Amino acid sequence: MTAQQDDPSFKALTQKISRTRGIGCESYKEKCLKRRIAVRMRARGVHSYDDYSKLLDEDAHEYDQLLDALTINVTKFYRNAETWAALLRPYLVDLWRARRGRVRAWSAGCASGEEPYSIAVAIAEAARACGETPPWSHARVDASDIDRESLERTAAAEYPEVTFSEMPKDLLRRYFTADAPRRPVPEIRRLVRVLRHDLTRERPPDPPYDLIVCRNVVIYFDRPMQERLFLTFAEALTPGGLLLLGKVETLFGTARERLALEDPRERIYRRPA
Ligand SMILES: C[S@@+](CC[C@H](N)C(=O)[O-])C[C@H]1O[C@@H](n2cnc3c(N)ncnc32)[C@H](O)[C@@H]1O
Repeated sequence: MTAQQDDPSFKALTQKISRTRGIGCESYKEKCLKRRIAVRMRARGVHSYDDYSKLLDEDAHEYDQLLDALTINVTKFYRNAETWAALLRPYLVDLWRARRGRVRAWSAGCASGEEPYSIAVAIAEAARACGETPPWSHARVDASDIDRESLERTAAAEYPEVTFSEMPKDLLRRYFTADAPRRPVPEIRRLVRVLRHDLTRERPPDPPYDLIVCRNVVIYFDRPMQERLFLTFAEALTPGGLLLLGKVETLFGTARERLALEDPRERIYRRPA
């Protein structure tokens, strides 16, 4: 972050945000931080980082607005549906058999919950493929995010129709209530545990995991942070465990030696058994 170091007022502002709100700004891409802070500065009509810093002191609500802007949380059920189909067969079905239903998954950066409930649905589908009926009491999906509001929405688990546009209709009927807002059925909901967690500062919540899904999150981090995180994921996986990244994210660094690329198109990696 050379430019950030060259810009003392920007550096002072990001250090202050990190200190007061416990978000590790130093690990985010500078361009990304600048763009989002600029959105808030424009919205409040301030033109310098120093003035924006003063505004934060005077208006606590602006901190919430800024954190919302920093932790962009666009998401959907079965986002990139073809990825979920590829994950189910053969990977999740094999995993379900090998673990005899004791499948542990982690949705890291889960936003408002569409991703962890999608994982729960995919696990349920793997169970069904193996002829197992609910409750699938030994399976679990940890859903974590840094953003409290997103976590509240994950826990509330109420979703408008538009969030299901990529989800196959048979899965929607099988695993969600019919009325709007739709809710996951109790067997799915029971699988998901909601946790606050900062990927840049904390160890994984409850390793080891058989499946880690971290999609469209690391793109916001700088390269050293991405590399550290990939290694952390590799270490948190069980032998034979899977890592799923976002469509535009690629594993690099030391973690490449620990994880094999199974499906380059869908960004599925596996720790050798
Ligand atoms: C674009 S959303 C991705 C949601 C979901 N994974 C998906 O692909 O549909 C990015 C999420 O990362 C979360 N996030 C950003 N920084 C984080 C951090 N340091 N620790 C944990 N989550 C973080 C944001 O709050 C946001 O919910």
